[in-house]
Amino acid sequence: MPNDRKIIMVGFMQAQNCSNYPASWRHMESAGDFLTPDYYRRIARALEDGKFHFGFFDDRLALPDIYGADHKEAVKNGIRVVKMDPIPILATMAMSTTHLGLAATLSTTYYEPFHIARTMMTLDHMTGGRAGWNVVTSLNDSEAFNMGAKSTIQHDRRYDRADEMMQSVINMWNSWEPDAIKFDKHNGIFADPDKVHPIEHNGEWFQTKGSFTVPPSPQGHPVIVQAGQSGRGRKFACEWGEVIFTIQNDFEQAKKVRSEMRDEAQMQGRDPDTIAIAPAFYVTVGETQSIAEDKFAYIDSLAKPIDGLTLLSEVLNFDFATKKIDEPFSDEELAGINGLRGILDKVVRLSGKTNPTLADFVEFSGRGTVREAPHLVGSPTQIADTMEKWFVEGAADGFVLFAAHTPGGYEEFSRYVVPELQRRGVYQKEYAGTTLRENLGLSGYRKRS
Ligand SMILES: Cc1cc2nc3c(=O)[nH]c(=O)nc-3n(C[C@H](O)[C@H](O)[C@H](O)COP(=O)(O)O)c2cc1C
Repeated sequence: MPNDRKIIMVGFMQAQNCSNYPASWRHMESAGDFLTPDYYRRIARALEDGKFHFGFFDDRLALPDIYGADHKEAVKNGIRVVKMDPIPILATMAMSTTHLGLAATLSTTYYEPFHIARTMMTLDHMTGGRAGWNVVTSLNDSEAFNMGAKSTIQHDRRYDRADEMMQSVINMWNSWEPDAIKFDKHNGIFADPDKVHPIEHNGEWFQTKGSFTVPPSPQGHPVIVQAGQSGRGRKFACEWGEVIFTIQNDFEQAKKVRSEMRDEAQMQGRDPDTIAIAPAFYVTVGETQSIAEDKFAYIDSLAKPIDGLTLLSEVLNFDFATKKIDEPFSDEELAGINGLRGILDKVVRLSGKTNPTLADFVEFSGRGTVREAPHLVGSPTQIADTMEKWFVEGAADGFVLFAAHTPGGYEEFSRYVVPELQRRGVYQKEYAGTTLRENLGLSGYRKRS
């Protein structure tokens, strides 16, 4: 592990009316111009001021409409209902920044390899080699219905398809040799045809034949980001991911998970130093601990129970409006839940009940509240203490910042916490290079298989 390593910092962004915290739009400081380029440029500038390595847009191909079998509650309460296409927004953000990496989430389940390969490589050119792709497999039935499918593909099978997607996309990205273009006007030769290789993929999920249409970008190809947490998901993440996001509540567990992921990468024939593990956190920072605690109490008060019920229905593919508040879930109902199983496991563990009630789901999942994910609350020194410990003692290579309100959540982190981390020598003062992969220092460029 290089001893000049620095924290890799990532901003978790949404092209929607709220942050990851659905109640964030109710915060007095949240901006209402989320349909304008100005809003996203402000976020981009805040992240670049704080020398973040990259910002990335999450994505879902549906608004929550499983609760009550329609979209009414979600729309009325503004629960992640706007979802714009991340790619044009990233292109806009690229124009007001020079070094910030810009990543988008695209689904391996609902797009074709050519589509993803071309969109992402084009973005990589238009950002001067600053693009990244958050590879997700999509788990909601609502997404399936919007995309013309009858239901989601079963969990592990989604990852089988994703594996094939990666092989196919990476082969497309590598099909033009870097020196293929000659642009020789004198002899009338645009490019060397021997350096542009046709691509054929005959797999279970994809069959493609032809030539790719976008030459390689300044960083070769976009940086690959992933967040698989299950056994199958982690195997996938460690095979393909360069930056891997996780959710960890506790330092010892985070250390264990990072070490297991590095071992998994090694088993897959990769150098573990070419992957970075980044747990996600909310941060509420104030001039003093008590100011931060007051801010947190206000943020926490913004959530309504309907936020959690709507999001639980979406993420577990089960209509929570069909249950009474104290009615336990039957074994059959629990077995039928085919969304994020990690949430179900957490509720069973924390409630101590094999058949939890609706109230248990709301309380113990924390879904829709700011307590769902780990949250650092304190003064800049206190926040920096935790981040430095996790980074120096092997629990993290970097962090993903969730914002409890936008754009202020990013601005406060950049203004309050970053200078303290820089003072301690664990956070970059300047970007190392010009492309995202150079700035990450990961050299994880993938060749053709
Ligand atoms: C920080 C973070 C960001 C994520 N972003 C998205 C996203 O934008 N879209 C999505 O469908 N899933 C997203 N996920 C979910 C993961 O891709 C993955 O499905 C989830 O962590 C469960 O792991 P598993 O697929 O191995 O069961 C995200 C997860 C984390 C931790």
